[in-house]
Amino acid sequence: MATDRNRGALIIIEGGDRTGKSTQSKMLVDALLADGKQAELVKFPDRTTPIGKLAGSYLQKTLDLEDHAIHLIFSANRWEKVPSIIERLENGITLVVDRYAFSGVAYTSAKRGFDIEWCKQSDTGIPAPDLVIYLTLPVDQATSRDQYGTERYESTQFQKRAVENFEKLMTKNWTTLDASQSIDAIHQQMKDLTTEIMQQVGTRSIEKLWV
Ligand code: TYD
Ligand code: MG
Repeated sequence: MATDRNRGALIIIEGGDRTGKSTQSKMLVDALLADGKQAELVKFPDRTTPIGKLAGSYLQKTLDLEDHAIHLIFSANRWEKVPSIIERLENGITLVVDRYAFSGVAYTSAKRGFDIEWCKQSDTGIPAPDLVIYLTLPVDQATSRDQYGTERYESTQFQKRAVENFEKLMTKNWTTLDASQSIDAIHQQMKDLTTEIMQQVGTRSIEKLWV
């Protein structure tokens, strides 16, 4: 529904494991709220829905799924949120999203036999971000921040391939931030970038990803 009112911005936070995405996403939403702005946190996978529970079980290795099938489940977990994402943006709420389709593509295409174009298909048409903030940290440094757990994909080799794939997905609306800086320094940069984009989106229509 088109209105004259400014819409919210769709801000995606991406990066490999242990780069601080979740910490920074939460801090960003809290800071926007403290400034009196409307903002909400969204996280993918959203493990709370029936579809997301399948993804959660797969990641915890209590469920085995064929590699194409789990890719489509991660995508379906985003599609099921699209109506509420659009509604909130149109209502002026800025969304800070911890992982999105870029993770979907970067992780699946780190598996043998998957090409990036195939992986992009199932998320083609979801709302396109106004800004992607990509946190980078050498994988060896990320690993030393905290031991990997026992979830699927938590190995250095796999993470390295995923990070290489993220870099193939970068477009002009991505900003890369060095995740080895202090939490506060990263936060300040993220807040400045987000505030600027929030002022720019105005009544501009929400575009579709990879269309
Ligand atoms: P989670 O613990 O929810 O996030 P994080 O590791 O950032 O704390 O785990 C998400 C895992 O799922 C992570 O290894 C990336 C992977 N993933 C996909 O393979 N496809 C996707 O579409 C998404 C969103 C995540
Ligand atoms: Mg994890």
